[in-house]
Amino acid sequence: MDGSAGTTKRRFACTVDELDKGESMTVPGDVPIALYRNDEGEFYATADTCTHEDWSLGEDSDLESNEVVCPLHMARFDIRSGEALCFPATVALKTYEVEVEDGKVYVLA
Ligand code: FES
Repeated sequence: MDGSAGTTKRRFACTVDELDKGESMTVPGDVPIALYRNDEGEFYATADTCTHEDWSLGEDSDLESNEVVCPLHMARFDIRSGEALCFPATVALKTYEVEVEDGKVYVLA
């Protein structure tokens, strides 16, 4: 949102119907982003790569309410804040804003 000098771009991720509740996907780009849809149907986005080791959370993870579980070593993160909730992850995931407009989902990165 603020960050460095106006470099934020809106990146199309998917249509609302393409991502079911409780699912995630990876939005490709210079920096891959994990997009999640929680049980309430809300969208959140974080960096795609687990901060513990190199693992794509968008491609393969378990979403439990607003927590994403990395299946490699079971670290958990809050998808709303990026906060690392348990060992072995100690570094938060970067988070990104999500916009939904006309049935399309965008991430701001
Ligand atoms: S790579 Fe995600 S917990 Fe280890």
